[in-house]
Amino acid sequence: MIYESAYAKINLFLDVVAKRPDGYHDLHSCMQTVGLCDTISAEITEGGEKTEILLTCSDTALSCDEKNLAYRAADLYLRTVGIDGVRVKMHIDKRIPLSAGLGGGSADAAAVLRLMNRHFKNKLTHDELCELGAKLGADVPFCITGGTCRCEGVGEILTPVETRPDYTVLIAKAGGGVSTPEAFARLDELHGNYAAYTPRDPSRIYAALACGNVQALASCAYNSFEDVILPIHPDAAKIKSFLTAGGAVTALMSGSGPSVFGIFVSDVRAECCAAALRKQGIFAAVCRTVG
Ligand code: C5P
Repeated sequence: MIYESAYAKINLFLDVVAKRPDGYHDLHSCMQTVGLCDTISAEITEGGEKTEILLTCSDTALSCDEKNLAYRAADLYLRTVGIDGVRVKMHIDKRIPLSAGLGGGSADAAAVLRLMNRHFKNKLTHDELCELGAKLGADVPFCITGGTCRCEGVGEILTPVETRPDYTVLIAKAGGGVSTPEAFARLDELHGNYAAYTPRDPSRIYAALACGNVQALASCAYNSFEDVILPIHPDAAKIKSFLTAGGAVTALMSGSGPSVFGIFVSDVRAECCAAALRKQGIFAAVCRTVG
């Protein structure tokens, strides 16, 4: 049995800047890996007659067939490297909330690609694995790479970013999920063809990260999805205010939401906020950023 952790991501900065002819959007994002993770376990047996992929998941709300990105990742990897007659038995122990803007599905797919590549003695380079990941989803290349990255294009153009070692993050999610295509459609309604849209300057976030000044993130963390998602997810807006009042340096929605993260310099304050949220039946996890 082999194992791989599938880490969630948060967006310290996310600005959607243009709609492309293919329907996707150009964005500028600063993505950060966090310690909240799913675990993938797999048994890979070679030498069979035909390839067989069997997937189970601790969360019964998730489909375990081709609709699951982790299943598609295993299938795509084997077809790409041209290996047949393999039995892949995988299980996902799910801890990242679904449809939450935390990249859970992409994280699982990325972990499966890393795990398969490790098993097959790194047949693909890191860049080749990222190219494969981009076919599965815009966030998959970042989830393969991890750490802190400046992400451009649809999210697949990655530049690693220098940061301070790590800091504490509280991630919370209440209520139902958000459909990512719907969130983008709401932004399109707001910005039309983006011709009159002035992108935000992201340079201050990288300066704050480079000098290790977590407090400075407060004035430059940004997510353009907040304008269209917080009004229809009042629970997320309440969590944001609650985290700020509870001592977070800053609190921001992650991705297309509705999960919200708070950055803390005090672990005690983060744990207190998490305990109070859990008492209200809200998902709350305290973790560290992962380099
Ligand atoms: O790539 P992924 O499957 O994760 O994206 C989900 C959906 O989000 C896409 O089908 C697309 O509608 C939207 N999207 C987008 N621009 C991006 C990333 C995603 O429009 N840069």
